[in-house]
Amino acid sequence: MKMSYEAQEDSLRQESRHLHQIFISKIFKSQRFFQNLVLYSFLIGFGFGLGFILNVHIRNVSFNPQLFRLSSLTSSSSSSLSPQLQPQPKKCVPLQNAVAADDDGKGQNGHYLMKPENVTHNMTEEELLSRASKIQEETLKMTKKVAFMFLTRGKLPLAKLWERFFQSHQKGLFSIYIHTSDPFYIDDDTSETSPFYRRRIPSKEVKWGMVSMVEAERRLLANALLDAGNHRFVLLSESDIPLFNFSTIYSYLINSQHSYVDLYDIPGPRGRGRYNRSMSPLLSRSNWRKGSQWFEIDREVALAVVSDNTYFPLFQKHCQWGCYADEHYLPTFVHVMFPGKSANRSLTWTDWSRRGPHPRKYTRRSVTAELLRRLRNREDGCVYNGKKSEKCYLFARKFDDGSLDSLLHFAHRVMGF
Ligand SMILES: *[C@@H]1O[C@H](CO)[C@@H](O)[C@H](O)[C@H]1NC(C)=O
Ligand SMILES: *[C@@H]1O[C@H](CO)[C@@H](O)[C@H](O)[C@H]1NC(C)=O
Ligand SMILES: *[C@@H]1O[C@H](CO)[C@@H](O)[C@H](O)[C@H]1NC(C)=O
Ligand SMILES: *[C@@H]1O[C@H](CO)[C@@H](O)[C@H](O)[C@H]1NC(C)=O
Ligand SMILES: *[C@@H]1O[C@H](CO)[C@@H](O)[C@H](O)[C@H]1NC(C)=O
Repeated sequence: MKMSYEAQEDSLRQESRHLHQIFISKIFKSQRFFQNLVLYSFLIGFGFGLGFILNVHIRNVSFNPQLFRLSSLTSSSSSSLSPQLQPQPKKCVPLQNAVAADDDGKGQNGHYLMKPENVTHNMTEEELLSRASKIQEETLKMTKKVAFMFLTRGKLPLAKLWERFFQSHQKGLFSIYIHTSDPFYIDDDTSETSPFYRRRIPSKEVKWGMVSMVEAERRLLANALLDAGNHRFVLLSESDIPLFNFSTIYSYLINSQHSYVDLYDIPGPRGRGRYNRSMSPLLSRSNWRKGSQWFEIDREVALAVVSDNTYFPLFQKHCQWGCYADEHYLPTFVHVMFPGKSANRSLTWTDWSRRGPHPRKYTRRSVTAELLRRLRNREDGCVYNGKKSEKCYLFARKFDDGSLDSLLHFAHRVMGF
């Protein structure tokens, strides 16, 4: 999609260059030079205006987090998004009168350092991060929960599937957090019985592929850490689906000895090439890593991420255009701070088999029982807690809005919820 827009832009540019030449020759032949000059300036102005409008339009349409991917040849060209043309930063838009759904009451023996049922708060970013980084090991006695953190642009188109997934099981074993930069996000039409009801945290604007994406991830982690019951932290997008029932996913995560962060050392411009020498000596090129942004980490790593005052500021400063902090910060951080802790793989399936900047998007027609079974049980297998396993992915992406009905159709039969 983006390519064709770029091509359009290109041909537009060529066309206007051509017109430009014709005009110049005409103008200088003409007697009525000044009259033409006026006309010409007007046309230039008009051209610029049109270009501007088109540009803004194109950006809105192709506002797609998947533009920046591992195999992307064109990824460096997406850095041409210019800051002036981005939508204005949106400040926190807290929900009105937040009386959030309580997904589990108080837990059995636990008490919370902050009532987790209210995810709306008036803390500043600094207060939030510092508070979150101080909440420590009291958690051991509590019922362990998994925090499902959704980083989205707007509403969750697959909410119905997730609701079924969550409702199929005991309450009290999970909590949900939503970060969306959509200033108009109101969940008034979300049912009060939905686990998504009033789970939006105070959010800020996210520019895909920029460091603000990692800031949003840290914000999600910090909010989730305030609930001392959360032990595992999963980052999801609006196009993700669960591949197993809740109890399977819950026990896979809670009993795992590892965190799941993709990390590769890749030579070339899309790997080590994105390292910025200004990061030295704190961070060396040989420690630079790359991987999918969709992580699953434990409390120890989550705590370290929100408390990180060493490496994150380096990324904020030196990982900007064409760097894609979301693909590098966490892989690099985990590699440096927690060697051996990562299972070195992601739990979220993404199909990169088609080369190009976009992963495969599953539509209504491509969702079949066979596909889902294939994603659930991998013949090639992987290692889980030191043993070979066929369960390699717990989640999968990207599923478009139209696939919801097919997914609901197969959820019970194939995925067990
Ligand atoms: C949640 O917190 C916000 C901001 O601190 C406050 O305005 C709101 O009244 C709180 N809601 C509940 C149910 O405590
Ligand atoms: C948040 O609200 C509470 C009262 O609800 C107030 O005591 C506190 O100072 C506020 N914090 C900020 C940062 O505004
Ligand atoms: C979840 O799925 C597993 C196998 O896929 C099954 O053994 C288990 O009973 C299911 N759990 C519930 C609560 O249905
Ligand atoms: C590296 O960081 C410097 C200083 O922050 C910045 O000016 C430069 O643009 C960065 N280089 C790249 C390739 O991002
Ligand atoms: C992940 O890779 C690192 C080396 O990069 C290795 O030390 C570690 O043991 C690997 N982890 C697992 C679970 O295989």
